[in-house]
Formats: sequence, structure tokens, C-alpha cells
Amino acid sequence: MNVVMIGAGYVGLVSGACFAEFGAQVTCVDKLPERIDALNAGRIPIYEPGLEDLVARNVRGGRLRFTTELGDSVAAADLVFIAVGTPTRRGDGHADLQYVYAAASEIATYLTGYTVIVDKSTVPVGTAREVQRVIRKANPDADFDVASNPEFLREGSAIGDFMRPDRVVLGVQSERAEKRLRELYRPLNLIEAPILVTDLESAELIKYASNAFLATKISFINEMSQLCEATGADVNAVAKGMGMDKRIGNKFLHAGPGYGGSCFPKDTLALIRIAQEHGASSRIVESVVEVNASQKARMVAKIRQALGGSEADKTIAVLGLTFKPQTDDMRDAPALAILPALADRGAIIRAHDPEGTAEARTLMPSGIDYVDTIEDALRDADAVVLMTEWNQYRGLDLRELRSLMRGNVFVDLRNVYERRTMEDAGFVYSAVGR
Ligand code: NAI
Repeated sequence: MNVVMIGAGYVGLVSGACFAEFGAQVTCVDKLPERIDALNAGRIPIYEPGLEDLVARNVRGGRLRFTTELGDSVAAADLVFIAVGTPTRRGDGHADLQYVYAAASEIATYLTGYTVIVDKSTVPVGTAREVQRVIRKANPDADFDVASNPEFLREGSAIGDFMRPDRVVLGVQSERAEKRLRELYRPLNLIEAPILVTDLESAELIKYASNAFLATKISFINEMSQLCEATGADVNAVAKGMGMDKRIGNKFLHAGPGYGGSCFPKDTLALIRIAQEHGASSRIVESVVEVNASQKARMVAKIRQALGGSEADKTIAVLGLTFKPQTDDMRDAPALAILPALADRGAIIRAHDPEGTAEARTLMPSGIDYVDTIEDALRDADAVVLMTEWNQYRGLDLRELRSLMRGNVFVDLRNVYERRTMEDAGFVYSAVGR
């Protein structure tokens, strides 16, 4: 089976390497020459556990290659996946589809023999049919079907998620396309991974509905965290008690600084726009977005309050910048909203992150000091803000760190620590919803 993956980012690279591991011949195409050069030199441009070994093994095995040229590989392909970015379009919150349609028109003229063109990017309902129109217009004689195969992997555990998915969703318009996609995913039959075959529109919407629902769970528990603070309840206990109900489930019920990352913020906004375009309601998702913004603002107020009402001239050690651990992805991380708000009011910020500082430097306003060790962050600091729950921050030597600091404020935005432990170590501790 010959597979072309257009886009060698988080999704394209992981999916391409995993399909190669399944035994397919995979060519990953990216328009960024520096990305392809790095991959051809054995360097992985993103941080994702296990990816380096997986890529190296499949390159050595002759099943995976990287190029900026799509012509020859598309001509030989049985399936062409489009895994390019679909960021929020400036100004209106819509998914920006320019990269998807550019990829579609680039591949159109190279198609030879029956080919299935598969949208793996997260795209609004109707995009697969538009991709079909774009290709048909550029190459009226092409023998092809379009399909939708949304991706559900999580950064940080992407390979495991891809290899052992909760489900594979295939939106198809013909039995021929279904057969080809099933053939590609056949190794997953061994682990009995469920494969849901549906129409194009449903497949496209399943992805947005799933992400919006997960974002809803997060905003729900974040809203509850405020109520817990107001009433003296403990949000961890509330979430635990809720999660024991199998109808609710215990996942995505952790109160924190608000969701971020490359998917939830943009996909919730896009879902609202899709609903508006079709004259349908999206009131729940609109509230989810609003609650998320206010949760980030609430975190700024919480830090200010912990510092006695003003962050001016206070040194704040920030542990963690990425939107979650095990990734270097800073896209829409809560830190990007919270830290500039503190810096604007005169806080001196010293940030540590195991993987995210390079990208943070490009996205954060200047004036933030990035340090290499936790100790360097905490030395002479007035307060610590635990922003991302990297493992490195879960077992801190609290007494030693406390002794390095000038102040004793610890704001735990991920509810990692117990109040008693922190107070015993000499900290004035605040958390989220407890
Ligand atoms: P990314 O930004 O990491 O990668 C996209 C890549 O596509 C870039 O390397 C870019 O240079 C390349 N590209 C763009 N246009 C191209 C073209 N015409 N030809 C060749 N290469 C081209 O994006 P990421 O995070 O991989 O996301 C891709 C899609 O997958 C998005 O729609 C996203 O919503 C979706 N998704 C992302 C997940 C994630 O965790 N990052 C999870 C599930 C879905």
C-alpha cells in the first residue's frame, strides 16, 4: 500500500510513521524545506515521546521517507492524506482552510490510477466535498474518491493513541474507498480497535463534536472550581465523586487554568462558526469558550491575590509553559494569556519548562526570563506558580526550594500538591477550587 502524507507536523509525522510501522510505504511531504532536511538528517522537529525511534526504525526499514516534492509519490499513491494545519482564521474564528485547498490543488494534476484522498486535518462539514470539487476542476479525468478520517491522537501520547485508538472514524462515499482505508488500518484488527464507517459529513462533525464535548467537561469543572472556592468545597473530591458515575466518567474533570493547545480553542471557535453558518444553535459551546476565557482571567486574579493584592515588582517563578506536559507545543497555552497579564502589571517573570521555552520565546512578549533549572527559577522569587504538571514538578524538594526563595507563596494551578504538605514546608498555598 502506497501512502502519501501531506504535512509533516504533529499529526502528519506521527500518522505517517505509524502507517509505515503498519507496513505501508509512506512518503511524508512538507513544504517547509528545513523540516524535511531535519527529518532526512534524523532530527525530529517536534517533541513527542517515542517518535524519534519510530521514525528511525521505519526509515531504516525503507518504509518511510521525507520530501518536499509531491509529484512522483502522489502518482504512485493508493491513498493521499491531507494533514496540514487548519488554524483559526484571523478575524472571524472560522477554520482557515487555505492550506487544505492548496494541498488539494497541488496533488490534483499528479493523480494516476484510482486514488483515495483523505482529509485527516480537522475540517468543517462540507470540506471533503469541496476538496473533491477542487480536484475535479483541476483534473476532470482523475479517478478518485474523497474520504474523511479525523485524527484523535493526543500530543504527548500520540503514538500509543494512534496504535491503540478508542475508535477509527472513516467517512466515505464509496465501497471502494472504504475497502482501501480498511486495508490500511487492518493491523488494528488484531487489537479489535472499533472502526466506525459513516458518511463524509458525520465523520467531519464527529471530530468537532468530540473536541467540543471534552472542552465542555473542562469548562464545567472549572466553573465548579469557582463554586467550590466560594462554598468551601474541594473540587478534587467533587470531580472524583462525579467521575465515579460511569455515565459521567472521570476523564477531563481536572480543574485548572483553562484548556489550551492546538485543538480545543480553535475547534470550539470553528464549531460555533459552522453552526452559525447553518443557522443552528451553539449556545453550549459559546458558553464553554467564555468560561475558559474567564478561568484564565480568574487565575491572574488568584495569583495577584496570593501576592497580597499586587504583582508589581514581585518575582514570580513559573514552572511549566506548555499547555500540557510531554509536549513542546505552546499553541494557545494558558501561559500565553496569564503571564503577559502579570508582566503588564509589573511582575518580574522567570519561567522554566522542560521542552517549551524555545517556542515560548517566539510567542511571549519580551521581558520574560527563561531559565534552565527549577532552582534558577525559584532563587529569590516571591512566589511560585505551577502552570503545567510536568513530572519534574510533581516531586519537588519543597523545603530546599522554599529556602532558595525570598517569599513563600505557592500557587498550584494544576492541583498537584496537598495543602498540608505545602504548609508543613513553609508555603502559603493556593490551588484551584480547593
Ligand atoms: P502542524 O502545524 O504541526 O503541521 C502542519 C504541517 O503541514 C506543517 O509542517 C506545514 O508546513 C505543512 N503544510 C501546510 N501546507 C502544506 C502543503 N500544501 N504541502 C505540504 N505541507 C504543507 O499541524 P498539526 O498539529 O499536525 O495539525 C494538523 C491538523 O490535524 C489540524 O487540522 C489539526 O486540527 C488536526 N489535529 C491536530 C492534533 C494535534 O494534537 N496537534 C490532533 C488531532 C487533529
